[in-house]
Amino acid sequence: MEFHVITLFPEMFEPPLRAGMIGRAIEAGILKVRTHALRQFGLGNYRQVDDTPYGGGSGMVMRPEPIAAAIDAVEAERPGLWKILMTPQGEVFDQALARRLSERPGLMLIAGRYEGIDERVRSMVDQEISIGDYVLSGGELPTMVVIEAVGRLVPGVLGNPESLAEESFADGATLEYPQYTRPEEFRGARVPDILLSGDHAKIRAWREEQARLRTSRRRPDLQNRRKS
Ligand code: ADE
Repeated sequence: MEFHVITLFPEMFEPPLRAGMIGRAIEAGILKVRTHALRQFGLGNYRQVDDTPYGGGSGMVMRPEPIAAAIDAVEAERPGLWKILMTPQGEVFDQALARRLSERPGLMLIAGRYEGIDERVRSMVDQEISIGDYVLSGGELPTMVVIEAVGRLVPGVLGNPESLAEESFADGATLEYPQYTRPEEFRGARVPDILLSGDHAKIRAWREEQARLRTSRRRPDLQNRRKS
């Protein structure tokens, strides 16, 4: 799967994408991430990408022409990518949306900066996504969140596909059961006996119950959201 990112700060993507499972998947050729420097498409000698807002007000607004030119250039190279604008005003990102996006052959992600983006950019994309109800200074970190969450769902990226079925939000709305490893006792806290029993049917039932309890205590809001 391919990710094409339009950003003013391509360098922000380098170390995070080299590390861990995403880095390995890129090396193995299962995922491909290309950054496209928005500055290259800036206007005039200064490669201007922003300007003052019409109607007044503080801060700068990203102009539409450089973003349009960048989108057109990426599209000419790789037609048919699903185009996403990262913005706090978008649809809130969750595991179900990550799964739907992972079924697409490629995404184009546009990371905004400054105080805002000219409204006319919205008509040039297929979807707007927010990673949560808080404001960051730019769409770069949100873009990386989407690449990581979507990329790890692409077949072959995770070593063990079974772990995907069991982790939190695998069904869209349940937290994962509690996990333990060695030692059997740590600072007075013992691993629950059932996990040492070897009785796999009982272990499975215990885990399901724990996941249900944990979800209802910690995230009662999730209970009516189960999707599959
Ligand atoms: N850009 C700034 N804040 C954002 C957020 N919460 N989600 C997506 N893009 C953003």
